[in-house]
Amino acid sequence: MKKIGSIIRLICLFFLSMQTNLLNAQTKTIAQKVDSVLQLMTIEEKVGQLNQYNDDWTATGPVTKDNDKAKQVKEGTVGSLLNCMGAERTRNWQNVAMQSRLKIPLLFGQDVIHGYKTTFPIPLAEAASWDMDAIQLAARIAATEAAASGIHWTFAPMVDIARDPRWGRVMEGAGEDPYLGSMIATARVKGFQGNKLGDLDAVMACAKHFAAYGAAIGGRDYNSVDMSDRLLWEVYLPPFKAAVDAGAATFMNSFNDLNGVPATGNAYLQRTILKGKWNYSGFVVSDWGSIGEMINHGNVKNSYEAALSAITAGSDMDMESRSYKNNLAQLVKENKVPIAFVDDAVKRILQKKFELGLFDDPFRFSNVQRENKVLNDPEHLKIARQVAAKSIVLLKNQNHLLPISKNTKTIAFIGPLVKEVKQNMGFWSIELPDVDYSKFIVTQWQGVQNKISKNSHLLYAKGCDIEGNNKNGFAEAVETAKKADVVIISVGERRDMSGEAKSRSNIHLPGVQEELIKAIQATGKPVVVLINAGRPLIFNWTADHVPAIVYSWWLGTAAGDAIADVLFGDYNPSAKLPISFPREEGQIPVYYSHFNTGRPAHNDSDLNYVSAYTDLSNSPRYAFGYGLSYSNFKYSNLQLSKSKMRSDETIEVSLQISNIGNYAGEETVQLYLRDRVGSIVRPVKELKDFKKLFLNAGETKTIRFMIDQQKLSFYNQQLQWVAEPGDFDLMIGSSSDDIRLKESFELLN
Ligand code: GLC
Repeated sequence: MKKIGSIIRLICLFFLSMQTNLLNAQTKTIAQKVDSVLQLMTIEEKVGQLNQYNDDWTATGPVTKDNDKAKQVKEGTVGSLLNCMGAERTRNWQNVAMQSRLKIPLLFGQDVIHGYKTTFPIPLAEAASWDMDAIQLAARIAATEAAASGIHWTFAPMVDIARDPRWGRVMEGAGEDPYLGSMIATARVKGFQGNKLGDLDAVMACAKHFAAYGAAIGGRDYNSVDMSDRLLWEVYLPPFKAAVDAGAATFMNSFNDLNGVPATGNAYLQRTILKGKWNYSGFVVSDWGSIGEMINHGNVKNSYEAALSAITAGSDMDMESRSYKNNLAQLVKENKVPIAFVDDAVKRILQKKFELGLFDDPFRFSNVQRENKVLNDPEHLKIARQVAAKSIVLLKNQNHLLPISKNTKTIAFIGPLVKEVKQNMGFWSIELPDVDYSKFIVTQWQGVQNKISKNSHLLYAKGCDIEGNNKNGFAEAVETAKKADVVIISVGERRDMSGEAKSRSNIHLPGVQEELIKAIQATGKPVVVLINAGRPLIFNWTADHVPAIVYSWWLGTAAGDAIADVLFGDYNPSAKLPISFPREEGQIPVYYSHFNTGRPAHNDSDLNYVSAYTDLSNSPRYAFGYGLSYSNFKYSNLQLSKSKMRSDETIEVSLQISNIGNYAGEETVQLYLRDRVGSIVRPVKELKDFKKLFLNAGETKTIRFMIDQQKLSFYNQQLQWVAEPGDFDLMIGSSSDDIRLKESFELLN
């Protein structure tokens, strides 16, 4: 018996070692292949892999004119193209790359930020959904369409925390909060990258802009950022760490200097944190020309020094500045840059080209038949409509003016955005040459027409332009309103008034739009105002006087239908603001997770030596986490499993949510904590968890949260991640300024 047992053990060991060798062979295959290609490469070919050019479809930065790109691709001195789209066009460029000595395939990158052919709501709008499944699904569809069009890599998600709505790129991110921003970063990375890289519906994600780009002083794009390392770690880095943990294939660094060092030359960010502490194995692409821009920053004297600084700091690929192309080989030859830095960057890039399967088949993403099929999948439009409806925020609904009955006899639809087509796509949307957007996009006018009964009559008047002082259209608009039973007014920005290089010092409703609203409100008709924008706008008169206000951001291809779904009650609005809305620009930055200060103001009339404005309320016009429903939700029965916990223990939190309204709907229950005393003062509240749940009218559900040490921790003076013993307040709210239930507990030593 013993003999048989030892034979069986031997056989098992044999197969186990075979399998291990095979497994090792497979896992080492890509690493080995990368090394084998690297050994064949000249220094010029290595530098070529670090060189990325813009193709000629469009430009998303200042263009350098040179027309020998094809020649350089043939010479193997270009590693990637951006703004090159379409199965055919990418196939043609890949054919050029296959004429190079080593036939290393090109990577095609594109800003697929919120959709490719099917445009989804701008990211800030999607963030308002607080629906991670919806956000992930939108990214999944964007990736599916982009990959079918030959794109390997999207320069998304943008995960910059932003607390200054003067900054135009606030539209591109997930708002002001690191917890919500981290959850959304995870959802978007997973959505873009799908099951695994190499699948034909997956594209590489790119977490950007590393780092703290959203904290530009004065909200002025590209401006300096100056903050403590503690604030950087506590607020601005968490979404990037979440992206690393979600497996983001690439990073993009940012234009700004951080504490005087441009991000693209910032070794603390890229080597110490990203590739060191976080052990990141992907690659970092510079933002457009940002390596060369280190000269403008006054951080380096010339392109030669820029290349030296950037490669040393861990910038792997040079988008459009040509600094690496023109200097890196010489820097290596002069022993200013160890070849190991170049080899590390090249290996990181080749690794992704292998993972995408491009060495096996460079043309695998460039299939025209698949492209046509995927880009015309009607399911995508259906999902776009659902995600859009989930992104619409109901800000005000006095006397239940909304939803409007579909049988309303006469509705006036007034304003400069009612019949706009492409405005609905927002900034960072992609316009494909062969799409007739007048037919593809559902305008707001069309959406309402699709919704109302055939006996209803829809009247239109433009009223005014988005900008300018011309009020000549007011009279017609007022007369039109007088004929109606209810008036919908659609106002806002133009889509290119927020986005990159679109910072604004004045974020009031532009032009004479608010005067148009006043004129129509004066008719005494019931008025609903729809606001379309890429950022929080200021509209105090409207907020104080108009009975119903809906924030619809920019919702994409299905905008009109989604807006009508909400206005006429086919979708009960559930969105919550991911960013605070200021009352005036002078209040900026205003955000919910502020410190208490030594002289907190307890209300607006308390002005006696307290931290407050004497001419304006301290509170935002609309708070982070705010958003109404056609229903009402009752919070009750908050219970904690214990009132004291040790650092290795947890507390279970349970409560009941009841839909006490007449509509089925979703509520986002938000859990905030306050650490009452800390070695670093702690915010008056911080979002630590949330749950979005559906409830039928009259339904009650019990929900649970878990409090662990992680949720109690923060970065102390020494940048250690610590939870300090003491008392904590736990707040459950429907908004950061609408706390429904409270409890407290103690963290023991
Ligand atoms: C732009 C943006 C960046 C984008 C890149 C390529 O300047 O800053 O977000 O991905 O260039 O278009």
